[in-house]
Amino acid sequence: MDLRLNDKVVLVTAASKGIGFAVAERFAREGARVIISSRGGALLDDAIERIGGNVTKQAADLTQDGSGTKLVERIIDQYGRLDILVSNTPGPRIVPALETTDEDWEAAYGALLRPAVQLSRRAAQQMCLQGSGSIVFLTSTWVKQPAVGGVLSATMRSGVSALAKQLALELASFGVRVNQVMPGATGTDRMRDIMRAKSVQHATTEDEERAVTVRDIPLGRWAEAVEIADTVAFLASPVSSFSTGVAISIDGGAVRSTL
Ligand SMILES: NC(=O)c1ccc[n+]([C@@H]2O[C@H](COP(=O)([O-])OP(=O)(O)OC[C@H]3O[C@@H](n4cnc5c(N)ncnc54)[C@H](OP(=O)(O)O)[C@@H]3O)[C@@H](O)[C@H]2O)c1
Repeated sequence: MDLRLNDKVVLVTAASKGIGFAVAERFAREGARVIISSRGGALLDDAIERIGGNVTKQAADLTQDGSGTKLVERIIDQYGRLDILVSNTPGPRIVPALETTDEDWEAAYGALLRPAVQLSRRAAQQMCLQGSGSIVFLTSTWVKQPAVGGVLSATMRSGVSALAKQLALELASFGVRVNQVMPGATGTDRMRDIMRAKSVQHATTEDEERAVTVRDIPLGRWAEAVEIADTVAFLASPVSSFSTGVAISIDGGAVRSTL
C-alpha cells in the first residue's frame, strides 16, 4: 500500500535506536524527509548510516525543559514546515509504587510528559498555520493495563493519552490529526536491560525473565520494533485521513479489555 508519505517532513524523537529508530527507518523507506533526534553522539550518527538516505539528525536532550519546543523550531526554520511529529520519549525507572521518590516523579514528568507537551504544542502551532499535519504519540499498554513496577510510566503516559485526546478535539477543525500508539513488550535494548535487572534481582536468567513476560502474551512473543513502526506510519499517513483521537495497542493480545 502506498502510504503517500513521499516528501513529507517527519520528526521522530528518541530515535537513535529501538522503537523510535524503527519508526524513522519506516518513514525514510516511504520517501519521507525524516529528522531523527536523540541526545546525539555515536549512536545517532550510526542511526543515520543505518537508515542510509532521506534522513538528517538534530541532537536534543528531551529531559531539558524547553528542548522539545526548540527542537521543533529548528526544524521549522530549516524546512519551512512540519508534516508529521512522532513524539517518542525516554523511558522512566521501573520501580514499585511505594519505593518511588519525589525525585523519581519529577524525573518521570521531565522525561515523559513535559517533552510530549512541548513538542506537540509547537508542532501543532505550525500545523494549524499549514492547515494540515499529523501527530502520533508513542505511549505504552501500561496506560490501559497496569504492571508491577510500571507506575511512573503508566501515570505520566496517561497524561500523554489525555493530551492526545484533547489535541485531537481542538485541532481537528484545522486539519490536524492526533493519534496514539501503545506498544506492548517489544524487543529493544530497553527491554533487554529490564530483563537483565530482573534476573539479578530474582537470581534467575534473562531467558527465564523473558519467558515470564511472554506467558501473558497470547501471540507468545514480544513485538519486533518494526511491527510498532508499521502502525505508526499507517496512522500518521494520509491513508488514515479519517482517524483522529484513536489509541491502538500493538501488544500480541496482552491487553484483555474489550475497548
Ligand atoms: N520496549 C518496550 O517494550 C516498550 C513498550 C512500551 C513502551 N516503551 C517506551 O518506548 C520508549 C522507547 O523505548 P525503546 O524500547 O525503543 O528504548 P531504547 O531502545 O532504549 O531507545 C531509547 C531511545 O531514547 C533515546 N533517549 C534516551 N534518553 C534521551 C533523552 N534524554 N533525550 C532524547 N532521547 C533520549 C535514546 O537515544 P540516545 O541514547 O542516543 O539519547 C534511544 O534512541 C520508552 O519511553 C519506553 O519506555 C517501550
